[in-house]
Amino acid sequence: MADRLGVGLVGSGFMANFHVRSWTSVRHGDIMGIANPDVQSAEAMAKTVRQLKVGEPQVYADVREMVMDPKIDALWICTPNYTRVEIMEQIAEVIKDGKGTLKGIAVEKPLARTVGEAKRMLEIVEELGILHGYLENQVFAPSVVRGKHIIWARGAKVTGRPYLARCAEEHGGPHEPWFWSGKQQGGGVLNDMMCHSVEAARFLLSDPEQPKDALRPVSVNAEIATLKWSRPEYIELLKEMTHGKIDYGKTPAEDFARANINFQDEKGNLLVAEVTTSWSFVGPGLRLSFELMGPEYYMQSNSLEPDLNVFLSRNVKGEEGEDLVEKQFAEQGLMPVLPNEELVYGYIDEDKYMVDCFLEGKMPKETLHDGLLVVQMLMSAYKSSEEGKKLAFDTDSLDDFVPKVAQGTYTAQDPVKSAHK
Ligand SMILES: NC(=O)c1ccc[n+]([C@@H]2O[C@H](COP(=O)([O-])OP(=O)(O)OC[C@H]3O[C@@H](n4cnc5c(N)ncnc54)[C@H](O)[C@@H]3O)[C@@H](O)[C@H]2O)c1
Repeated sequence: MADRLGVGLVGSGFMANFHVRSWTSVRHGDIMGIANPDVQSAEAMAKTVRQLKVGEPQVYADVREMVMDPKIDALWICTPNYTRVEIMEQIAEVIKDGKGTLKGIAVEKPLARTVGEAKRMLEIVEELGILHGYLENQVFAPSVVRGKHIIWARGAKVTGRPYLARCAEEHGGPHEPWFWSGKQQGGGVLNDMMCHSVEAARFLLSDPEQPKDALRPVSVNAEIATLKWSRPEYIELLKEMTHGKIDYGKTPAEDFARANINFQDEKGNLLVAEVTTSWSFVGPGLRLSFELMGPEYYMQSNSLEPDLNVFLSRNVKGEEGEDLVEKQFAEQGLMPVLPNEELVYGYIDEDKYMVDCFLEGKMPKETLHDGLLVVQMLMSAYKSSEEGKKLAFDTDSLDDFVPKVAQGTYTAQDPVKSAHK
């Protein structure tokens, strides 16, 4: 077995930089390449990689050249959702032509914009016969992992399995225009952030001693709405923030989504995942919350309740920044601070784990199969919301489904008018 994994990052934006900072805790891998047609951005990230001493990356304008480099053993795909399938096909082209080899490919969330695209992603890695990992950081977040362990080892063991998971992810809106575009991103906040919450809930509810597929989604009941960003003043603000690229007066996406996903376990027990997400939450910054409940116990975690708070008086007038917490909204008053976001959000343990799996030739526990199931749950949630009713989880009906938000035909609905009588 080789003792180090040479990793190539595809993309050099917000998420790739999070992986770079996490890499200071990754012991068996180095960042040896960065691919991005925007070479300047890749060069800037390469500089950070060298400063942090987490690799000696070469920059490539084309991902195909990076795959041909024998120093690269695995890829982390961290590009916008609308580039996924094309990039995967370019990677496959090189490997099929015998011009490069890879041990594994890890792909950021969500796996794709539609079930059709997600299936294509999975088909490609399976044809190549290489290892694959789905980068859902929240199932590696220490509070989630530790909380689940204690609940199952103590509470569930003595009094029975948990039955309700509540997970939420909320902030004030994404950092790049493409996230706000239903077509480019695949939807609004449901697609962008509920992918985390459904997988975290499934993870918490899953019996660690059973195979993963022992827990099956059976029905989905969801609702979406545009609560904040369809207001006239926020339509204008969003236009300004995105340099005129996004107009929610014409093609809005949802900034609020909630879903109840019912699961059944191997014994037929009913379990509920209650998930909610929004881009309309204005608080100190990004808030992740997790709860797991059973007959005689519960656990809870809220990322905005860290062990560090700072207070800055009204006389402290500083620049806007994200130095206290991701998607920070204020620089004054009593503020929660996450001293190590890479750890709290799960990126460090995720990266360490994926590197070790690929080095050991082992299929990770979080794969593109999980990524596909997540996309199926999300599409089912969009469908439920469009039809205004609870739906049986029927994967056959989802292959060609494209949410109205992604088609550009969604209108920010008045919940009273659209309610079924
Ligand atoms: N796990 C998480 O918590 C989390 C958080 C944020 C984003 N993400 C996901 O990561 C992905 C990237 O998001 P982001 O926030 O970094 O977006 P971003 O827009 O900040 O960065 C995207 C990067 O990809 C590059 N890029 C675009 N097209 C490319 C191509 N064809 N080849 C190579 N590079 C290309 C861009 O130049 C940019 O550097 C998205 O799928 C997003 O959903 C995950």
